[in-house]
Amino acid sequence: MPQPRVLSGMRPTGQLHLGNYLGALKNWVRLQESHRCFFCVVDWHALTTDYQDPSAIVGNIHEVVLDWLAAGIDPQRSTVFVQSDVPAHAELFLLLGMITPTPWLQRNPTFKEIQENLSDRDLNNFGFLGYPVLQAADILVYRADTVPVGVDQLPHLELAREIARRFNHFYGEVFPEPASLLTESAKLPGLDGRKMSKSYDNAIYLADDEETVRKKMARAVTDTRRQRRTDPGEPDDCPVFDLHRIFSTEETQAEMATACRTAAIGCFDCKARLCDHLWAEIGPIHARRQRFAGQPGRVAEILASGAEIARQEAAVTMARVREAMQLVR
Ligand code: TRP
Ligand code: SF4
Repeated sequence: MPQPRVLSGMRPTGQLHLGNYLGALKNWVRLQESHRCFFCVVDWHALTTDYQDPSAIVGNIHEVVLDWLAAGIDPQRSTVFVQSDVPAHAELFLLLGMITPTPWLQRNPTFKEIQENLSDRDLNNFGFLGYPVLQAADILVYRADTVPVGVDQLPHLELAREIARRFNHFYGEVFPEPASLLTESAKLPGLDGRKMSKSYDNAIYLADDEETVRKKMARAVTDTRRQRRTDPGEPDDCPVFDLHRIFSTEETQAEMATACRTAAIGCFDCKARLCDHLWAEIGPIHARRQRFAGQPGRVAEILASGAEIARQEAAVTMARVREAMQLVR
């Protein structure tokens, strides 16, 4: 039995933070044990929204790949590559476009939401409307059966399945229906208590060194009722304690909770304890990132050999697709 296939992708939007790591990457790393994995930096997807100024994309590809390698994505076992290095994604995108009814795209909730959130940009471009068709092509061109994603991507995955079904219905069974593998993750608060996000400027990055992490944590918001060191606090109302729940041992959690409620400890020391546990998990990742970053040309080399393998795999699928669609003379 061949191993089941995983395809997942990330847009090159910049360095990855702890939320990205716990919410997605950690899961990808685990999947390498049991699946044949394809991990794709989707630079064309970045262009659907950033077409007016694509200057950041190339640099961001490099940063994202460093973060993947840091987290433990193993380029010997998994195929790590950039979407635009594999033209078959574009060919399949075009062919799937023929069979995708435009109302499916127009009523896509993610489409409307992003269009409203990024209201400073003109997102009435065809490429942005077609975003989920390109995503379906990313998945189907490797005949992936499993796609690890966060909840926000479920509508896109549903569309990918509907497109695959429609294709198979018209032209015969070519594609497996890709199942989403939902990454369950505890909500990770950022330094200001809101969801950790690059756009809120409240994130801790895998690229941050220990000193930076400790400095950032020192200014993280806590239970606002603790105005003075002698005021007792409530861990259940403190975003820093949410991080203890994720990174610290049960023992530390119990100790900190009591010490907070009795004002036996100050936030400064409570945060220092958190950083000890957090760094125990993130330190080795950061160190691996530094190691890869210190090898010039290494990322380019990994992406070149990944693209080679991805192109070969995609070619097998495209031969079947062209045959099924009677494009072979
Ligand atoms: N749309 C995804 C996101 O914004 C990125 C993506 C593109 C993707 N192609 C994919 C994810 C294929 C999974 C599979 O996160
Ligand atoms: Fe939060 Fe710790 Fe301060 Fe209590 S002591 S408010 S848990 S940071």
